[in-house]
Amino acid sequence: MQPRRVARRILGEPLTRRVRLLAGGTVPEGPSGLRAGARPGGGSLRRAFDRLPAPLRRADLTDWAWHFGTDKWGSHWYTPHYERHLGHLRRKRFTLLEIGVGGYDWGAGGESLRMWSAFFPRARIVGLDLVDKTRLSRGRVVVRRGDQTDPELLRSLVTEFGPVTVVVDDGSHRPEHVRETFRILFPLLPDGAFYAIEDTQTSYWPGWGGSLDRSDPTTTMGLVKDLLDGLNHEEFLVADAAPSATDRTVRAVHCYHNLVVIEKGDNEEGSNRELVPGKEGAPA
Ligand SMILES: C[S@@+](CC[C@H](N)C(=O)[O-])C[C@H]1O[C@@H](n2cnc3c(N)ncnc32)[C@H](O)[C@@H]1O
Repeated sequence: MQPRRVARRILGEPLTRRVRLLAGGTVPEGPSGLRAGARPGGGSLRRAFDRLPAPLRRADLTDWAWHFGTDKWGSHWYTPHYERHLGHLRRKRFTLLEIGVGGYDWGAGGESLRMWSAFFPRARIVGLDLVDKTRLSRGRVVVRRGDQTDPELLRSLVTEFGPVTVVVDDGSHRPEHVRETFRILFPLLPDGAFYAIEDTQTSYWPGWGGSLDRSDPTTTMGLVKDLLDGLNHEEFLVADAAPSATDRTVRAVHCYHNLVVIEKGDNEEGSNRELVPGKEGAPA
């Protein structure tokens, strides 16, 4: 996004968000004890803020993204989508696994883990990264080192921390890794789980393992398009089109700019094709 568009978007934020953020004193310490990006606040501002009506005081996921400095808002615009799909888990106990902790220097990274931990105060947040970020583990936040395509590692994380209700793949963004991670992890998730894949734009970028051919079936978006067909597997009229386990257990696929959120659940509602004339492709 152009800098002017970013500035316009940020300056155009609702007043409530700016009030909530300015009142930094109301922001509890992050899970790692690192108040990254914490705004100065407290004192009279804090007291004034505390007198605001409750709805004004309730920070949303985008507030937390701003506060902790993850690019899930500001560079990308993912947080409202996440809030729409995951908001119902806010007070629940569950496990969120994020692949890709971030930060290129030894002391950096973990912004999104802090955001998740603040937004989901009862959740276990597990971060996985190829680079050693394990020092960011603290309290409910656990960080492990490893490759997102390592099946043993992924299975052991699910065994240790599962059931995993939310997966966020913000790792290498290389389609072959994204697809392999999904192939390993998705079957291990419970019904009702959400599996998000970020930065799907790499599907179109050969330098990232994507392709200039938009119909290339090996990209991340190729996977997503297969999932869309799979949603309708009960309508296929080809005799040998046996549904895959994924076809039967993907209940919804929500696509946004550079982000996909896949919902796991029963996808065997049954077809109405026996009632519909022309089911063999002939005009009714
Ligand atoms: C975009 S950053 C994550 C940003 C972070 N989730 C946030 O929103 O603040 C991507 C991270 O993925 C990690 N990564 C790259 N390839 C990986 C792989 N094969 N397995 C696990 N992590 C990987 C990188 O080391 C980097 O820290």
